[in-house]
Parts: sequence; C-alpha cells; structure tokens
Amino acid sequence: MGCDALIPGLGDFEYVLTVVGLLYVVKLAIQTLWAIVNGIRDHWWSRLWKKHLVEDYGKWAVVTGCSDGIGKEYAKELAKSGMNIILISRTLEKLQKVSTEIGQEYGVETEIVQLDFMTGRPIYEDIAKHLEDKEIGVLVNNVGVMLSHPMEFELSSDKDIWNHINVNMASVPAMTKLILPGMLSRGKGAIINVASIAGLHPIPLMGIYSASKAFVDYFSQALDWEYRGSGITVQTVTPSYVSTNMTKFSELVHRPSVLIPTAQTFVSNALHTLGYARRTSGYWAHGIQVHMVETFVNKWMFMYGNYMWNSYLLWNMKKNQARSR
Ligand SMILES: NC(=O)c1ccc[n+]([C@@H]2O[C@H](COP(=O)([O-])OP(=O)(O)OC[C@H]3O[C@@H](n4cnc5c(N)ncnc54)[C@H](OP(=O)(O)O)[C@@H]3O)[C@@H](O)[C@H]2O)c1
Repeated sequence: MGCDALIPGLGDFEYVLTVVGLLYVVKLAIQTLWAIVNGIRDHWWSRLWKKHLVEDYGKWAVVTGCSDGIGKEYAKELAKSGMNIILISRTLEKLQKVSTEIGQEYGVETEIVQLDFMTGRPIYEDIAKHLEDKEIGVLVNNVGVMLSHPMEFELSSDKDIWNHINVNMASVPAMTKLILPGMLSRGKGAIINVASIAGLHPIPLMGIYSASKAFVDYFSQALDWEYRGSGITVQTVTPSYVSTNMTKFSELVHRPSVLIPTAQTFVSNALHTLGYARRTSGYWAHGIQVHMVETFVNKWMFMYGNYMWNSYLLWNMKKNQARSR
C-alpha cells in the first residue's frame, strides 16, 4: 500500500513528516495522560487511603530546618499524625517555640537539637547522640538556604558558597547515613528529601542553588532505587515557589496564590503523597509546572526563561528598594 492510499495528496517527504508529527503528538498525549493518572493517585486517591505513619514507619520523626517555613509545617503535620518529633535547626528560641506549640497542640514528645548545619562534619556526632535508642520512622531532609536574591555568581559571598554545600547538600547524605541503618534493621521507614523545581535544569543567576538542588534530586532518586524492596520509602520532593522566608526578597514570588501556596498548604498536600509518589512536586499546581517543564521545555528554553525571569525579579526588587528609600 503506497503513502497516497493512506493520506491522499501527500508526497513521500510530507508523508514521513506527518507520521513523525503524529508519533510525537501520541507520545506527548501518553505522557500527559500518565501524569494525570499519577496526579490523581498522589493528590486525591492518597487522601482516601491515608497512611498510618506511626504504624507504617515508626514512632519518631526527625525534621531538619524545622523552626520555620516548610520544615516547621512538616514537623506539625507529622506530630498531628501522632509521631514524636526531633526538631533540628539553628535558632534556639524559634525551636523552643515550635516545640511548645507542637507539644501543646498534639500532645506528642519533642526533642530539640540546636546546631548550625553550616559547621559541617563535626555536628553529626552530636546529632547521633540524640538519635540513640530512638526508633526513627521518618526523616525529613528539609534544611536549605538560597542566595538572598538572584545574583551573578561573582556577587555571592564565601558564606553563600559553603552554606549551599554544607546545608543544602552535605546534610542530606550525612543525615541519611545516621538514620538509614536503623530503618533497615527494622525493615521500615521513610526518608523525604526536599529538592526543588530549580534542580531540574541549571538556573542562571541562581546557579549554586540550582546545582545544590540537582544534587539532592539525583542522590534521592538513586537512594530510592537502591532500597526498593527493603521496606524503606525514599521520596524526592521538587516544589516550585512556596511563600516562606526564602521567597521574601520579592512580593512577586512571596504573595500566596494558587501557584504560590503557603508552607502549611504545601505540606498538608505533600505529606499525603508519602508512600504513593517516589518523586513529586508535592502540590498539584506545582505538579502541572513540573510536568510542563519535563515534557514541553528543553534545557535551553528553561535556562533562557529563568534567566529572563530572575533578571526581572532583580530589576523589580531594586526598583522597589529605590522607591522605599
Ligand atoms: N520556599 C520555596 O519557594 C522553596 C521551593 C523549593 C524548595 N524549597 C526547599 O524547601 C526547604 C525549606 O525551605 P523554606 O522555604 O521553608 O526555607 P525557610 O523558610 O528559610 O526555612 C529554613 C529553615 O532552615 C533553617 N536553617 C537555615 N539554615 C540553617 C543552618 N545553617 N543550620 C540549621 N538550620 C538552618 C532555618 O532556621 P532559622 O531560620 O531558625 O535559623 C529555618 O528553620 C529548603 O530545602 C528549600 O531549598 C523551598
């Protein structure tokens, strides 16, 4: 049967192009359908068949960077489900406040570990002492920092560099190394690694942050693969903008909206996906963004778009600063 019989009026070259085009559209349609099915499972089905965190994973949860933002909400949501919480963060007064709040509201035990992840290796011995004799069921590797606003690399400080390395990156495998053996011996547990949509491709003007989040994303996905079948759940979370201190540098990315959830909205969505999604944006509107990026946007488009967007955020921030002077 010739090409003309299938699609009349087309030459051989046009016929080949048409077939390639159709195959591409079918591929996109299948990917989108698959994303919708997964989205329904992660954000809707998971609410009907809720996990019992204490029974499924264990009695204690550890949350890093839990005195504010997303980490604080993870600590509260986990406590709400009956878990005792080990709170690890930098500012003692904020830690004490969160600990009291959780104790009073949910009646669970809490323990505070005050330290600076910027210090690097020596802190993990101290953390290990706090974890002794505790059945850690959930570890949330949440602690993270970002440049105070988008900027050219030459303007970042020495502290910025070591913060991104010690806080965003080193803390994730180091905390995992402390807690994973106990989970393996019990054959259950969950490790949640908070990466970012910023780690999907490099982001100009936020290169060091984006690279640090790609590290978390890759490490977490590899860990998930290695421990499938061991009873341990490893989840990678890749959010887009969430309204927290981290996004305070610009109203454009800080003002809560459907696309920019508060930390509370974000975490109450994200925690439902635990045990259902191995890698998730955590929040349905961010899921659409991640799907668009992964399906329709190539690396060049992503980098160009983000360069323009960060340049605009920077320009807007400077304009507002000049106005308020
Ligand atoms: N917000 C977003 O738009 C967004 C998007 C994607 C991914 N994320 C990721 O989500 C995670 C949480 O971000 P967030 O927005 O919740 O940030 P946040 O509001 O700035 O909170 C960060 C938390 O980490 C603690 N922390 C920071 N540096 C620390 C250090 N050196 N040692 C110990 N604790 C430290 C802070 O403690 P103190 O303030 O008490 O010192 C605070 O409790 C990060 O990994 C971030 O990369 C955020």
